[in-house]
Amino acid sequence: MRILAIESSCDETAAAVVEDGRTVLSSVVASQVEEHRLYGGVVPEIASRRHAEAISPVVTQTLEQANLTLDNIDALAVTYAPGLIGALLVGVNFAKGLSLSTGLPLIPTHHLRSHIASNYISNTELKPPFLCLVVSGGHSHIVMVEDYTKMKIIGRTRDDAAGEAFDKAARTMGMPYPGGIELDKVAEDGNPLAFKLPRPVVNDAPYDFSFSGLKTAVINLLHNSAQKGTELDKADVCASFRYAVVDCLVTNFLKAAEDLGVKRLVIAGGVSANRLLRKTLEEECKKRGYEFYMPDKSLCGDNAAMVGSQAYYEFLSGNTAGTDLNAYATMSIE
Ligand code: KG4
Ligand code: ZN
Repeated sequence: MRILAIESSCDETAAAVVEDGRTVLSSVVASQVEEHRLYGGVVPEIASRRHAEAISPVVTQTLEQANLTLDNIDALAVTYAPGLIGALLVGVNFAKGLSLSTGLPLIPTHHLRSHIASNYISNTELKPPFLCLVVSGGHSHIVMVEDYTKMKIIGRTRDDAAGEAFDKAARTMGMPYPGGIELDKVAEDGNPLAFKLPRPVVNDAPYDFSFSGLKTAVINLLHNSAQKGTELDKADVCASFRYAVVDCLVTNFLKAAEDLGVKRLVIAGGVSANRLLRKTLEEECKKRGYEFYMPDKSLCGDNAAMVGSQAYYEFLSGNTAGTDLNAYATMSIE
């Protein structure tokens, strides 16, 4: 079954053709990041307008790349939640129009479920059940993936998402949006023990995260040194902050796995590209005899290939939509 998938939840306009949930025939991602960088973050109205301009050419290019026409497609899929509402609506309405004109079934797909599915492309042997750490710019969840379309949230952030904390710390150090990527690179040359940063815990919720205090601690550290006119080693600050965030993520994730007795662990979302997170979990899982899976780095950020993968399993479980499909800024992964 060939699915043409569309993604427009944030600042990438993307389309892909995916066969039977696992094989990517083509994938195109048009990023708007350069424009949003001027403002230090995503400007929702600009995002919607750029999606409106890009979506048709991106879909055309995707079909061309796969050497296919709409006649060779069996179903359409679109991200309908969660995300920026104006951005999502562009993809949803385009997909509805395409469904109406072709008669192809339309599969509404949840953005975070798609991030998890990026693993089905990179690890073709991977099957549920597994425990997944989903870490992106807007979300940080520990999710029990019982089946392809049956999920339970085990833990979540109470305030900032991990990616958001990385981006805000990076912005304070003058790195361009989205700073998480550069912070990770700079951290490679620093000492993770140079600065002592807190490891916030949430009382009575051992699997939940809280990153806002940690973010404030590093921002205060930077501001205080600026006021004193002293210069901190940037690589050391990045390394110490990255170590603290990854430590919080890994500690809770491994505790959840142990308590639930799950021995197959998976990571997903933009932050799953983080070098230290990948390395630490790889090592810890090896020590414990757990299976560990991560998406290819090229599939960690937003793309439509992962949407086409998840949509296949949504379709098999009977999830299709009519032309009254709407978009939603928030929606639980469950
Ligand atoms: O999943 P994603 O592409 O978009 C959302 O759905 O939010 O995640 C984007 C987030 C940004 O906050 C970005 O800074 C972060 O993922 N990110 C990273 C790395 N690569 C991307 N954070 C830390 N280390 C990285 N290597
Ligand atoms: Zn995302």
